[in-house]
Amino acid sequence: MKPMFRLSSAVAVMMLAACSTPPTEAVVEGPGDAIAAVDFGVTEDGQKVSLYTLANDNGIEMKVTNYGGIITSLMMPDSDGNIEDIVLGYDNLAAYEAETPYFGAIIGRYGNRIAKGEFSIDSADYTLAQNDGDNHLHGGEVGFDKVVWDAQSSVTDGGDQQITFSRLSPDGEEGYPGNLQVSVTYTLTNENELIFDYRAETDMKTPVNLTQHTYFNLSGDAKSSILDHNLMINADAFTPVDATLIPTGELAPVAGTPFDFTTPNPIGQRIEQTNQQLEYGLGYDHNWVLNASSDGLTQAAVLSDPQSGRQVEVLTEEPGLQFYSGNFLDGTITGKGVVYEQRWGLCLETQHFPDSPNQSNFPSTILTPGDVYKTRTIYKFSAQ
Ligand code: GLA
Repeated sequence: MKPMFRLSSAVAVMMLAACSTPPTEAVVEGPGDAIAAVDFGVTEDGQKVSLYTLANDNGIEMKVTNYGGIITSLMMPDSDGNIEDIVLGYDNLAAYEAETPYFGAIIGRYGNRIAKGEFSIDSADYTLAQNDGDNHLHGGEVGFDKVVWDAQSSVTDGGDQQITFSRLSPDGEEGYPGNLQVSVTYTLTNENELIFDYRAETDMKTPVNLTQHTYFNLSGDAKSSILDHNLMINADAFTPVDATLIPTGELAPVAGTPFDFTTPNPIGQRIEQTNQQLEYGLGYDHNWVLNASSDGLTQAAVLSDPQSGRQVEVLTEEPGLQFYSGNFLDGTITGKGVVYEQRWGLCLETQHFPDSPNQSNFPSTILTPGDVYKTRTIYKFSAQ
């Protein structure tokens, strides 16, 4: 297969310009079987799980399972056309079931933390699972990352491969109110985008904040840490946290702090500075308040690796971005033959702000019956 990044940059720019139209949802092949799938094993409770391969015309290939919607590998050319894996992951289903770092998974019903797992809606009090000290994290003990989803694959009329994961999150799951019908569609386009379309509907008011927890390491096959990667985050403010990583409610300017990524900076450059927020997070583990230019997609971040030339641009309709620099990785986890040391991968989780159900000055995350939760995030890949 011809690697995509041998194209001249002028041609690449023209291709990117031509691709700003989102793919249509029209399907030209029958549902369910448009994309190659293999068995990925059986869960501890006896459910069969599959692994799907999505590929585009330019050498990008993604493997994804309907267990947690987990992206297990993402093969991508570097600037010389070498195709390597740019995400962290495990070798088998059992490891994903036992794991805690949320490698590659869909996160829900609520991405990130809710203080003490408590919130109220219309004077009804709710208590969620407390799975991070006293706090609720990433949907609880059995979040959307730890369940088997229905899967339906298809090809758009533009020729892009896509897969939709859907499930009913029942009323009371992990303490959340309401039956939530939820779906997440992954589309890999020939313009080198991976598009996430999230959708949910409820029959009772409930908080919803879905995201994706892929850990990137653009070196290829995780050869080195992510500290030399350059990161730009399009945000003039972030939400500082307390010692348990719950936002204080403040929107603090990033200017003059290690949290200023408004121009590209190596991740490792300021991560060891003396700074209370970095101490609380053991590094970067914070929500940035994105500079939204208008309604619709905002450029949230650009991550690049000077060695391989690989780049990921993040575009989103969400107001926030959690940049997590893999601080809790500690060398005790091995996957795909690599020991994942601290900061061996990083996450760029588009989201509403953490603990929004308890923070009246943050954009609301409450979904009301009759309304549709609908949000899009794009990872756009290139190599220079
Ligand atoms: C998120 C959180 C982190 C951590 C990781 C998973 O990004 O903000 O504190 O829990 O997930 O390890």
